[in-house]
Formats: sequence, structure tokens, C-alpha cells
Amino acid sequence: AHQWRGVIREYADFLDVSDATPVVTLGEGGTPLIPAPSLNARTGAEVWVKFEGMNPTGSFKDRGMTMAVSKAVEHGAKVVVCASTGNTSASAAAYATHAGIGAAVLVPEGKIAMGKLSQAVASGAQLLQVQGNFDDCLRIARDLSDRYPVHLVNSVNNDRIEGQKTGAFEVVDVLGDAPDFHFIPVGNAGNYTAYTRGYREYAAAGRSTRLPRMLGFQASGSAPIVRGEVVAQPETIASAIRIGNPASWRQALEARDETNGSFGAISDEKILEAHRILSRDVGVFVEPASAISLAGLLERAEAGQVPQGAKVVLTVTGHGLKDPQWALKTADGGDVQPTIVPVDADEVAGALGFNA
Ligand code: F0G
Repeated sequence: AHQWRGVIREYADFLDVSDATPVVTLGEGGTPLIPAPSLNARTGAEVWVKFEGMNPTGSFKDRGMTMAVSKAVEHGAKVVVCASTGNTSASAAAYATHAGIGAAVLVPEGKIAMGKLSQAVASGAQLLQVQGNFDDCLRIARDLSDRYPVHLVNSVNNDRIEGQKTGAFEVVDVLGDAPDFHFIPVGNAGNYTAYTRGYREYAAAGRSTRLPRMLGFQASGSAPIVRGEVVAQPETIASAIRIGNPASWRQALEARDETNGSFGAISDEKILEAHRILSRDVGVFVEPASAISLAGLLERAEAGQVPQGAKVVLTVTGHGLKDPQWALKTADGGDVQPTIVPVDADEVAGALGFNA
């Protein structure tokens, strides 16, 4: 039977790979693009959810990491290094160990979700918790790769962006053309840049007729692109995008201008509200950072900026199981209380609201 072969083999014609490239893949990509009628009803648009949590390590990073690690091995690298808010480290660790090479990952101490930390540790990466934020970690990772024989696999490595552009290819392959709007979370703005590149290349190849407007969202406490200045102490509960000095800032502004797009900032409260809607109404469980795509759509739809019937794609970037604690909070911030019942069918029926 046929199985999806991973993004390098599926999209080899659009990637800088050759017979000499050892393809390091865990079968990433080919993620579902899910129609969401409940979101149509809420917004008046035609909404599709690109569920990137369905990748092998549970985030979109795997699309970039298959390319970055394959090219690293092609170039003879024995160790890869990255800075991360969690997902990149989980992905780098998995792809490196699959390739039989080492991974060193730098994460901000106490600021990454437990699921992601567990993934990196499980894969046998050398994990260092740095007493600083993501931006500090990235500065050190770059410095290490300049001075020592370690290969940098953050999105400042173009191979990462190349792999991640395949997300846009998949959207067009399913919809038959680019959507009107594409909503996406922004941390380093690597994925915003990558999707724009993917849409541009597909249009140039005649696979689509247009570019979508690229709408990127940052958390209000970590919104350097929106504010137009570096944020020294970024804060947000969406730990994946707690970034004050995005690596792909310049490229993101170019992509915004090219697509007539824009950036916006969303409060943590609105992020969690969108997180709840995705879980409860759509049935898609994501980590908080991913829900910002929906929060952005709700804000723009309410402001009358999304026409009725417009085709909208939301990239939701990471799986809810990576950072599940948010599901156990009520809308007013309390803890969800478990209902405990005795071993008794009548009691269970009663607790479920059935009358005897
Ligand atoms: N969503 C999730 C779940 C992420 O993990 C990230 C970035 C983003 C969105 C933003 O993507 O940086 O390309 O704009 N996570 C990185 C990491 C920083 O280390 O895992 P971006």
C-alpha cells in the first residue's frame, strides 16, 4: 500500500535535494486540512484548519527539520545545535537521533512546556536549560555554530524555511488554489516567511493563481513586529512564541508587503478563548500558541475585515498534548474539578444526568 513519503520525497521538485542527499524522514507532512463548519458559522468565512500537530513530533517544525538534518548529514555534520521554546528542540532531537548524529539543544529555563522537554530528553539530546530567554539561547546557539563543529538548525538556516514552505503546497494541493487569507502564529516569523515562499513558488509554477493575504499574530506581551521594536522581556502564556527579537523579522516584513498582509497582537485571554473554541467546537486540540491563528481570525472578522464566504486557512502549529494544562482551566481561570463516582451504575447514570 502507498504511504506518504515525507515532504522531501513528496516535493523533491521544489527542494534543493539530489541523489547525494541522505533523506532523513519520519514521514512528516501530509497533515489534514480540516473544514470547520462551526467556525464558518462564527465568522461568515469558509474556514479550513491545517492541523500541524499531526506531524511526527507534534509540530510543524518537522517539515523544516527533515530538510535541515538531511542537509546537515549531507555536509558531514556530526552534531546539530538549536535554541528553542520547545518544539524545535523536540524535532531536532528526534531527527538527529534518527540520523544517528547528536543534538545539543538550548532552552529557556523553566519556560518550556513539559511535553516538549520530555520529547527532547527521550530522544537523548544534550539539553541545557539556559538562565535566560529564547533570544539569549539563539544568540548562544549562533555563536557555538560559528566557533565549534556544530550545525545550526534554527530557522536562520534556510533549509528549515525550505522544508516548511511545503505547508503552503499542501494547502493548494487540497483547495485547488491559494485561499484568500492565511492566518498563522508568529514567533521568529520563520513559518510566516516559509508559507509565503511556498505560495509564491506554487504560483510561479502555475499551480495556483494568486497569493493569500498573510496575517501573522504575536502575543501582546511578545509583539516586537507589531510594536516595531525589540521586546527585551517578552511575556505570554503561549510559551512557544515568547520571543522578543524574531530571527526572520526583515523577511517577514517583505512577505507582508508582497501579500498585502499584516501583523496583529492578541492578549493571552483571547488566545485561551480561541484555544477553548478549537477544542470544544472544532475538536482540534492545540497548544496555546497555535490558537492565536483563530484568535486573529475572530478579531479580524469582528472588525469586518474578512468578507462573507472568503476562503480562510488557519495553521495550527502544535499539538495540545505538548502543553495540556490549559485544557484543565475554566473560562474564568479556575481549575476544572473532576467528577468522582462510586462503582455503581445508577450513580454513574445520575452523574451523567439520566433520570432513573
Ligand atoms: N507555533 C508553535 C507551536 C511554535 O513552536 C512556534 C515556534 C511558532 C508557532 C512560531 O513559529 O518562530 O516560525 O514564527 N517555535 C520555535 C521553537 C521558536 O523553538 O520551537 P515561528
